[in-house]
Amino acid sequence: MASRNSTRRAARYGAVVAETPYLREPGYAQRYRERRFRSGSGARTDARERAALGALLARAAPPAGRWLDVPCGAGRMTALLPGDPVQVDRDPAMVRACGPDRPRVCASVHQLPFADGTFAGALCHRLLQHIPTGVERVDILRELARVTRGPIVVSFFDACSLQHLRRLLRRRFGKVRSGRSAVSRPKFFAELQAAGLEVRAVAALRRFVAEQTLVLCAPRPDRR
Ligand SMILES: C[S@@+](CC[C@H](N)C(=O)[O-])C[C@H]1O[C@@H](n2cnc3c(N)ncnc32)[C@H](O)[C@@H]1O
Repeated sequence: MASRNSTRRAARYGAVVAETPYLREPGYAQRYRERRFRSGSGARTDARERAALGALLARAAPPAGRWLDVPCGAGRMTALLPGDPVQVDRDPAMVRACGPDRPRVCASVHQLPFADGTFAGALCHRLLQHIPTGVERVDILRELARVTRGPIVVSFFDACSLQHLRRLLRRRFGKVRSGRSAVSRPKFFAELQAAGLEVRAVAALRRFVAEQTLVLCAPRPDRR
């Protein structure tokens, strides 16, 4: 049966978008928390992502109030956010791995259980590269825009990068498919626009080398 939330979204946007699954083996949440970004290239990526997020937050000028971290995963980036952030993830094991220190909710970013404009700002970090279609990405961005009255920082994988080229070549030569999706900047910015957001600043981890790119955006003035 359709929930009240999905019925409301269908009325607003015309259809309920099917969600891409994010399936991981048992114990993944704990390993993600304890190992994924703790050594080697993972630690370097973690440091670069923190620096990129810090630089964008310094320019964000959010209204006072709570921030949303979705998907929070095991809570790696939450402490960088202002105020007393709320952590949301669809995987209950990830929500548990965050620990009990902050408000936590298990929910999908497609249907957030919050009223319009609840949050002063939002972070959506390391999700969109797992989402294969623009339709689904726009659905996620619209839902973030709905619950947020201030800035939103969102990451995506930039197709104009050596890392993406390597991924394409590996696929071409039959190596394991990673399931990650990259898009060009113009395409992603058009998706932000379709969700009622405008770009304020961009921070690439290593432009043209690494895929990971963070964007600071805000509700378009004509959508407020
Ligand atoms: C790669 S982790 C990123 C976590 C964290 N933001 C970080 O940077 O470490 C991706 C997370 O997205 C969550 N996820 C996937 N689809 C989701 C959805 N529709 N709604 C909420 N969380 C989702 C997964 O459970 C997983 O914890």
